[in-house]
Amino acid sequence: MIISFVNQKDGVGTTTTAINLASSLVRKNHNLVLIDADPQGSATTWHSIEDNQAFEIIDHPGELTQADIKTIETAYDYVIIDAPPAVDEKVETILKTSDLAILPVTPSSLDLWSCKETLDKMNPESEALQSGKVRLLINRKIPGTRVGREARQTLDKFDTPVFETELCQRVAYIDAMKYGVSVMQFAPGSKAAGEIEQWGQEVIALLSKDMSEEDAPDNSIATLYREETDNILFRSFQNFL
Ligand SMILES: Nc1ncnc2c1ncn2[C@@H]1O[C@H](COP(=O)(O)OP(=O)(O)OP(=O)(O)O)[C@@H](O)[C@H]1O
Ligand SMILES: [Mg+2]
Repeated sequence: MIISFVNQKDGVGTTTTAINLASSLVRKNHNLVLIDADPQGSATTWHSIEDNQAFEIIDHPGELTQADIKTIETAYDYVIIDAPPAVDEKVETILKTSDLAILPVTPSSLDLWSCKETLDKMNPESEALQSGKVRLLINRKIPGTRVGREARQTLDKFDTPVFETELCQRVAYIDAMKYGVSVMQFAPGSKAAGEIEQWGQEVIALLSKDMSEEDAPDNSIATLYREETDNILFRSFQNFL
């Protein structure tokens, strides 16, 4: 399964959401790799901060073909692609290959307009568009605000479905990034961790029709071990929350 994160607008949280979704899927015992297709290399920098990363990153700043992506896919349950902020030839290739394309969008008029433009520019031949698997993701919502509520109302007018889960603006996302970890590792049990886990379930449910039995998550010793590691990390980081 190929899940890409795209939006021509920069700074909407593409890298933050891609990394946290990847971490959430790994915690559910899926085997995955993240392709950092953005020449800015933010995901690659994040990955280099922490020694014991739960998944690998392929830094791919240059040209990327459908064959490259499909070859990588053979070794993994999921390939997550952090695309550059554009709708150019490279992003077209990524979209054509994606089983699910996710567009993070922040509740600001400028971002909403830009999101609409990104959708309009997408090639209808893309795998994700053909199978109807393009989803908008509300990110950086400020809870309890009018703009937060209005974002969903505005996005509901687009033809593209919006994830039920909304990600809020929280310092845990910024701090976790600084330490090279996910929000589940940085602040287990936090609201940020909860919303990412919930969104991860939503993504899996969306794609589950196409998944085989062996992809189903299990509750192994590895999960218990990871939770213990997370608790240790949490104890060290909680002073920074
Ligand atoms: N839910 C959130 N709460 C708080 N801060 C967030 C959230 N999501 C993203 N950010 C912050 O917003 C900024 C932009 O996020 P990020 O780098 O993930 O966006 P991007 O779309 O990948 O940007 P670029 O186009 O430059 O690659 C970062 O400082 C990040 O820490
Ligand atoms: Mg980025």
